[in-house]
Amino acid sequence: MISWAVTGSSRGLGLEFVRQLSERQDNIVFALVRNTTSSPELTKLAASKPNVHIVLGDLNSLPQLQEAAKTVSSITGGSLDVLINNAAYLDTDTSTLLPSQLSTTENLEQVKESISKSVESNVLGAIYVTNSFLPLIERGTEKKIVHISTGMADTDLVLGTGIAASVPYSTSKAMLNSLVAKYGAELQPKGIHIVALSPGWVETSPVPQEALEWMASMFRKIEPTVNGRIQKEDSVRDQLETISNLGWEAQGRMISHHGDRNWF
Ligand SMILES: NC(=O)c1ccc[n+]([C@@H]2O[C@H](COP(=O)([O-])OP(=O)(O)OC[C@H]3O[C@@H](n4cnc5c(N)ncnc54)[C@H](OP(=O)(O)O)[C@@H]3O)[C@@H](O)[C@H]2O)c1
Repeated sequence: MISWAVTGSSRGLGLEFVRQLSERQDNIVFALVRNTTSSPELTKLAASKPNVHIVLGDLNSLPQLQEAAKTVSSITGGSLDVLINNAAYLDTDTSTLLPSQLSTTENLEQVKESISKSVESNVLGAIYVTNSFLPLIERGTEKKIVHISTGMADTDLVLGTGIAASVPYSTSKAMLNSLVAKYGAELQPKGIHIVALSPGWVETSPVPQEALEWMASMFRKIEPTVNGRIQKEDSVRDQLETISNLGWEAQGRMISHHGDRNWF
C-alpha cells in the first residue's frame, strides 16, 4: 500500500492526481482541500472510491496542515509515502504587467498584495506543508516530496521566449525552486527525495483564446512543436511516471513532467 497526500485537490491537476492515483487499489490517497465541501467532483470521487480521504488543508494555515498530518497519521499508522504539494496562488490581477510597470502610484498596493499572496501560498505554504508532513515522510517507504512548480520560473524559458509578464507568480515559484534546493541539501542524508516538478502547459482553468495563441507563439521560440495546452490526464500520467522513477540526480532541482528540462 502506497500512501499519497495531494494539496489543492478540489480541481485542475490536483483533482486529476487524486483521480488517477485512486484507480490503483494499492494506493491510499489523502486529498487536501481548503474547503471540504466545495468540489462536487471530488465529493463524488471520494464517495465511489474507498481509498480516497478528503482532508482539510489550507496552505496558508500551519495549524490546519498540522492537523491534516495528524489525521493522515491516524489512518496510515504514522507514515506518509509521497507528498505532492500541488496547490498554488495563481495571481490574475497583475499577471499581464511587465516588471517596469509594477510600481506605479495607481497599482503599487495591488502589486504588493499580489506578491505577498503569491509568496505566502507558494513559498511559506510550501514550508508549512513540508514541515507538517516531514515526520510522516521520514517513516514512509517511498520518502518523496514533490512541489509542483512551473517552467515560467526557469531563467532559460523566460529569456528564450521573451515572456516578461506574470512576475508575482513566476518569481514566487522561482523562490519555491530555491527552497526545494535547500530542502534537497538537508533531506538527502535522510534518504528523502524532494523535487520541484513542472507539469507542462496544461488545460485547467479557462484562458481567452487570444492569450492562448500569444503564449503558444512565444513558447514556439524555444520549442517549435508547441501547438497549445496539453490535457491534464496526460500531464498527470507523465508526472506520476516521473515521480515513480525519481533518482538522486534530480534531488533539489526542478524537472519537467518528462523528467528532464523540456517544459512542454
Ligand atoms: N495549468 C498549467 O498550465 C500549469 C503550468 C505550470 C504550473 N502549474 C502549477 O500546477 C499546479 C496546479 O495548477 P492548476 O492549473 O491545476 O491550478 P487550478 O486549476 O487553478 O487549481 C489550483 C488549486 O489550488 C488550490 N489552492 C489555491 N490556494 C490554496 C490554498 N491557500 N490552500 C489550499 N489550496 C489552495 C485551489 O483550491 P480552491 O478550489 O479552493 O480554489 C485549487 O484546487 C499549481 O502549482 C500551478 O502553479 C500549472
